[in-house]
Amino acid sequence: MMFKNNLSNCYNIADLRRQAERRLPKAMFGYLDGFAEDGVCGRRNRSAFDQVELLPRILVDVADVDISTFVFNQKINMPIICAPVALPRLFHHEGEIAAASAASQAGIVYSLSTLSSTSIEKVAEIPGPKWFQLYMYRDKGLVKEFIERAKASGYQALCLTVDAFVGGNREQDLRNGFSVPPHPSLKTILETALHPGWCWDYLTKPRVTTANVSGDRITGAKGKTTLLQYVTDQLTPSVTWKEVDWLREQFDGEILIKGILNPEDAVQAKQCGVNGLVLSNHGGRQLDHAVATIAMLPEMKDRVGGDLEIIIDSGIRRGTDVIKAIALGAKACMIGRPYIYGLSAAGKVGVEKAFAILRGEIIRDMQLLGCRTLSELNKEFIRISK
Ligand code: FNR
Ligand code: LAC
Repeated sequence: MMFKNNLSNCYNIADLRRQAERRLPKAMFGYLDGFAEDGVCGRRNRSAFDQVELLPRILVDVADVDISTFVFNQKINMPIICAPVALPRLFHHEGEIAAASAASQAGIVYSLSTLSSTSIEKVAEIPGPKWFQLYMYRDKGLVKEFIERAKASGYQALCLTVDAFVGGNREQDLRNGFSVPPHPSLKTILETALHPGWCWDYLTKPRVTTANVSGDRITGAKGKTTLLQYVTDQLTPSVTWKEVDWLREQFDGEILIKGILNPEDAVQAKQCGVNGLVLSNHGGRQLDHAVATIAMLPEMKDRVGGDLEIIIDSGIRRGTDVIKAIALGAKACMIGRPYIYGLSAAGKVGVEKAFAILRGEIIRDMQLLGCRTLSELNKEFIRISK
């Protein structure tokens, strides 16, 4: 490695975030870290967890704590799943290969984005359970092709993202001149030069493109199209439940819908024959003021918990967040930024660090809570403060 990483001072996910901020040019970090509009949803994703209090039991033998669980009959070593993230190679050239290898070693599921920077097939070469995230493109032929490729490569589940059919209003990206590929203005060149580690890797390693669709489609003739513009062009705001029915006909494996917040939608998803949902507000990147996911979890559990596997994401940063989510009825938690902070800071070892931090916190906090297994966690351990 050309530039030394600085993981030894990282004790939690917030520390990894700071290291990511140091290594990434401002526009990249802004895209990773930023929220839509005023960031109310993004901040509430954290404050909502703060309102959930833990009520421990004492004098329980917690010498052996087991935090493994099953998602769709797949055993995972801890209740964490890597959320799909567009173009991880923008943050570190090792990208998906680093993240999926670290996930494989940690014994957890890795989800690959439609907008990945490494192909479906290449990521499939890494052992371990994998899900493929779908966007419903205008071009159904292309979607069908993705499904076939994911199936043929052994991905176990499809995760249809339904909350990003138009890009969120991320003003910091406009202000920072974020674009894919980076748009070289004097300001961005000077700013990027301040981050030599990232810059060196970016310039000397293979070009970052969307690996599942031709790069030309994304960058357009003038090479100035932003990623979100490309997504907006490909996605259509007219997608409805009909497309979910269509998807159900195409794939007989597990299907999840990602981006459900309203329990009524969860009931409808169940009626469409999907197998699970990701209770998500896209990490506060889409609709500002959208409800915090942890606040909706108890009702979601009551309405569909018996039939659908509930995964939750958006704002999970600590072992206690994971414990609260499991106690309130989630099967597992997806994390987006936390492992990408690690990746941005140091490549694969950074992702390993993110997983190790969360694993350590979950185990210690389970012990302090007086709980030996995830199946023992329930509402009795929770108090919601008003
Ligand atoms: C995302 N997310 C996302 N989701 C998705 O379904 N497809 C995608 O391509 C992306 N791309 C993406 C890029 C980046 C940089 C981020 C940070 C997020 C959303 C992601 O899957 C997840 O829902 C959130 O990241 C969860 O919130 P936290 O864990 O980041 O707070
Ligand atoms: C994002 C899109 C790509 O959150 O899902 O940036």
